[in-house]
Amino acid sequence: MKKKQIEKEYNAKIQKLNKFNKFYYENDNPLIDDREYDNFKKDILDLENKYSYLKNRNSPSLIVGFKPSKNFKKVLHKVPMLSLANAFDKEDLINFEKKIMNYLNQKNPFEIEYSAEPKIDGISASLSYKSGNLVTGLSRGDGKEGEDITENLKTIDDIPHKILSKDFPEEIDIRGEIFIQNDDFKKLKNKFANPRNAASGSLRQKNPLETKKIPLKFIAYTYGFEKGMKIHKQSDFLKKLKEWGFKTNPLNKTLKSIQNLMKNHKEIENKRSSLEFDIDGIVYKINDFKLQKRLGNVANAPRWAVAHKFSANNGISKIENIEIQIGRTGALTPVAKIKPTNIGGVMVSNATLHNEEEIIRKDIRIGDTVLIERAGDVIPHVISVDLKLRDAKSKKFTFPLNCPSCGLKTIKEYNSLTKKEDAVRRCTSEGFECEKIAIEKIKHFVSKEAFNIDGLGKKIVENFWKLNLIRLPQDIFKLNYIKIENLDGWGKQSVSNLKYSINQKKTISFEKFIFALGIRHIGLENAKLISKNLISIKNFISLSKTKKFNDLINIDGIGETQINSIKNFFLNTTNLKVLNDLSKLLKVKDAVLPKDDGLLSNKTFMFTGKLTGISRAEAKSLIEDNSGSIVSNVSKKLDYLVVGEKPTKRKIDAAKKLKVRILSQTEWYKMLNKTS
Ligand code: IVH
Repeated sequence: MKKKQIEKEYNAKIQKLNKFNKFYYENDNPLIDDREYDNFKKDILDLENKYSYLKNRNSPSLIVGFKPSKNFKKVLHKVPMLSLANAFDKEDLINFEKKIMNYLNQKNPFEIEYSAEPKIDGISASLSYKSGNLVTGLSRGDGKEGEDITENLKTIDDIPHKILSKDFPEEIDIRGEIFIQNDDFKKLKNKFANPRNAASGSLRQKNPLETKKIPLKFIAYTYGFEKGMKIHKQSDFLKKLKEWGFKTNPLNKTLKSIQNLMKNHKEIENKRSSLEFDIDGIVYKINDFKLQKRLGNVANAPRWAVAHKFSANNGISKIENIEIQIGRTGALTPVAKIKPTNIGGVMVSNATLHNEEEIIRKDIRIGDTVLIERAGDVIPHVISVDLKLRDAKSKKFTFPLNCPSCGLKTIKEYNSLTKKEDAVRRCTSEGFECEKIAIEKIKHFVSKEAFNIDGLGKKIVENFWKLNLIRLPQDIFKLNYIKIENLDGWGKQSVSNLKYSINQKKTISFEKFIFALGIRHIGLENAKLISKNLISIKNFISLSKTKKFNDLINIDGIGETQINSIKNFFLNTTNLKVLNDLSKLLKVKDAVLPKDDGLLSNKTFMFTGKLTGISRAEAKSLIEDNSGSIVSNVSKKLDYLVVGEKPTKRKIDAAKKLKVRILSQTEWYKMLNKTS
């Protein structure tokens, strides 16, 4: 058969499958029985395996179940829904505690009490109650903004609609996990790849009656916004949740010491396969709420909690080839293309080799049989080579010295921190001039934490690039929708959905905008710092004219590395064009500074010397939480110099000269009505 003919038949099959899905999921009127459906789906997958050129965005290999509706109203979470940092072994846990003790500036570490809660692998949801009534239910979304799925959530038996208990807070967001029990999932196996997908798909059905058909469960474990809650410990909160009528995890425990955490982790991991629900680790939360508050968050995860994942799955396979992937920041990463193999339920065909040194150190060659590890959501990697099975035909890999995408020379940068050459080799292009980097930059631009454009995933970006529909980020806002509508796998409805999600993102916060540009060393946290300092995109753009890059050094947290990276970004004319075009096409909202009615409102502070009982990081958040700000050098702009143990004399002298007020730690605490 000719290629064209095969493609035609394949696309027709997918269209038919879509129809079956629609009748099954939306109209509740299956056109064929489950067996026929499975065979039909398998035909499509077999075709894809046989002819690698077959691609369709509605393929069952890409979409599981029927696409959920996208038309839910977006609602801001009053308190963001955070994610968790991961730990994999005892050492990670020791480091987790160390960081906490450092943050609290504890010379003599104390024993921390934890709430240890099995981490159910489902979908998180936030339920807002007012005067005991369930008023709204939101999905997590991007953590800041969720989807209003109240009606669907209300169909779940475990979710109380009304709570009469006297001690139930006046207002509270109860948060927890929605999931399907394993035995219930068995009945749905044909439709979804795993219980998590089944829960997610059914939660986002347009028709709540569809959600009701699937036996979803809810387990509560935390809260967001609250008014009138008088509880001081997570373990007490979990007890109260039960009294109020929520289900909690029967395996929750309160534990002390890393040794006990490890023991509990092992015990639960052994029980894992016999549990009624899928868990992928144990969450440890510091039990004391006051301590949690003191510790606060880093980026989008709390400092006071961590997810201790279960051990990795290993598998053995053969390296068929080694390819170089080029990342958004130009890093060249060698990737082993392995003979596809099933590791812990997931088909793996790529494994990272990290860098050139790693290949040499482990003596990894094409044709070698290797041990591969896959842990959680981390990219699988090669652990070791089985030298006994090495074939005489195995081939050494020569790492390219020029970028395989644009041909420019590659370099290993000198790292001034480690005083060593970096292990990573990078393409020297500033960005959009190198095809592979440009594609990665665009993927980053539309990604969840940046512009978060629904329906414009990585594969679609690659496809649009191939078709010359996009070259620079601004092209996303000027897409040729007529051309897209005529592409295979697209139709009127999908194009109109895409257009809608793109138009919705034309208004964006300044911090997300900066982050989306993908400037090296400017992650979410730094983007936030810069946005708070510069306030508007206008000021950002004018950095290129005024060349006042060095002023950014006054932002606590921004250093030479970040400034050099921003300078390089502005030196490139394509980057300037991207900035200018985007500023015309978008509405970038000015940064909103936190309330400035705190105790230290409009006052600037600087520290010198060691503080007692509090780390610099905590002191900084304390100042910012009370509307003050930190500066990093003594100037007329400084209001107070707070002096700790062994201060720098030069700073004190400079402060005296400029008549800056000098405070002891006790005097500074007094300003905050704080005693110790
Ligand atoms: S606490 C404040 N507790 O894990 C930290 N999360 O990676 C976040 N999860 O999105 C929430 N069991 O879906 C918390 N006992 C538990 C949890 C739990 C599962 C999920 C949740 C969250 C993700 C964080």
